Amino acid sequence: MRLALLGCGTVGAEVVRLLHEQSADLAARIGAPLEIAGIAVRRIGRHRGDLPVDPALFTTDALGLIKRDDVDVVVEVVGGLEPARSWLVEALRAGKSVVTANKALLAEDGGALHDAAAEGGGDLYYEASVAGAIPLLRPLRESLHGDRVTRVTGIVNGTTNFILSAMHATGAGFAEALEEATELGYAEADPTADVEGFDAAAKAAILASLAFHTRVGAADVHREGITEVTAADVASAKAMGCTIKLLCIAARGADAAGRETISVRVHPAMIPLTHPLASVGDAFNAVFVEAEAAGELMFYGRGAGGAPTASAVLGDVVAVARNRLAGVRAASESAYAALPVRPMGEALTRYHISLDVADRPGVLEAVAGVFARHDVSIATVRQGPSGGGNGDAVLVIVTHVAPDAALAATVRELHGLDIVRSVASVLRVEGGL
Ligand code: NDP
Ligand code: HSE
Repeated sequence: MRLALLGCGTVGAEVVRLLHEQSADLAARIGAPLEIAGIAVRRIGRHRGDLPVDPALFTTDALGLIKRDDVDVVVEVVGGLEPARSWLVEALRAGKSVVTANKALLAEDGGALHDAAAEGGGDLYYEASVAGAIPLLRPLRESLHGDRVTRVTGIVNGTTNFILSAMHATGAGFAEALEEATELGYAEADPTADVEGFDAAAKAAILASLAFHTRVGAADVHREGITEVTAADVASAKAMGCTIKLLCIAARGADAAGRETISVRVHPAMIPLTHPLASVGDAFNAVFVEAEAAGELMFYGRGAGGAPTASAVLGDVVAVARNRLAGVRAASESAYAALPVRPMGEALTRYHISLDVADRPGVLEAVAGVFARHDVSIATVRQGPSGGGNGDAVLVIVTHVAPDAALAATVRELHGLDIVRSVASVLRVEGGL
């Protein structure tokens, strides 16, 4: 079984290392030796002297490597949309099996890859694209195929989880926690994809596609990052016995006519400290899956890093190599349900709103009136002194579930009340409170 490796960076180098260290076991598991036919990189001269591989295998001609007749499996750990998309479509159409960790490409144009795989008859596996080492996609696409998944709630970005965990632990602000994440190597020099939620949104699209048998792309995912989360928000969450996490949430629901729909969103949210996801600290990932018959399932582990991600890549390599030797292919994409994706305004959420208000008769009634006008039901209200020593009060309101658009309109109107000095914090709430 011969493999073309596209990319030899953080993940690719670990794939090479593991292939070398475990070659005997991998051969036994597959039923044939696994050899590297070539390694495509951008810069041949980049220092790779410590890798246990023949330097003659490196090439800058990725397409030429993919097209070679002696290549059975193409492993793509380059990243980005192009040229990765063209390479993988070419490989799949030619009947090769593909293993990729490229979440951005899968979320942007996964359909093109699945179509090419169907055309060529090879396998398309991408376990490493979501939550690194955690076996999650295979359970969704195989083990849970007899069940009906109703909701997936996950922490799927390690960088933002590190930042939010640090803010919770130390009371630091976002900028300070990001600086620490950068110094420790968790955040990249340009952290935009992580802190603005693009990375998590791509993963949410992949998870929702598998969970709900529907093609979901990055553009279908409502996305908010964590750059607006303040130390005051975190303190407010703590005071309520909660913490703040960047969650990806994909859920079944229904539209006004009762037709089944799904919603897919990524945003920071308050969750109670008793929720299973609250204890996921540092740069770890965890995904909580709810299914009708199976009930609640939790997947936890390292979501990034060279070796953990290479573990998932190699698991896929063994699977596709065994399929090829057996002359079979895995079940193809399951997108038969084609459920419509609801706009964020129709998603059912809860809000935690902290207001600085004047402390005088009628204030509570005026504030409650705004919620009532938007048909938003209040679950709890707490009032305390504002701390400013000016006789004002802090009102903390948690709502019941309501359409997100109604909650957003409520907050907009609260901003305009003269008895509301400021809207100190607005956060969505998940997982009971
Ligand atoms: P790196 O940037 O470390 O490595 C990218 C590799 O691709 C390098 O070897 C680079 O070559 C090569 N490359 C880039 N452009 C080209 C090109 N045009 N032609 C040929 N080779 C090219 O990326 P990572 O290893 O971190 O990530 C790879 C993939 O894995 C991405 O899709 C990423 O999203 C995904 N992933 C990464 C995780 C991680 O923890 N790093 C976790 C989960 C998924 P050269 O070495 O010459 O620069
Ligand atoms: N930047 C990602 C993270 C890497 O922080 O989780 C894994 O996809």
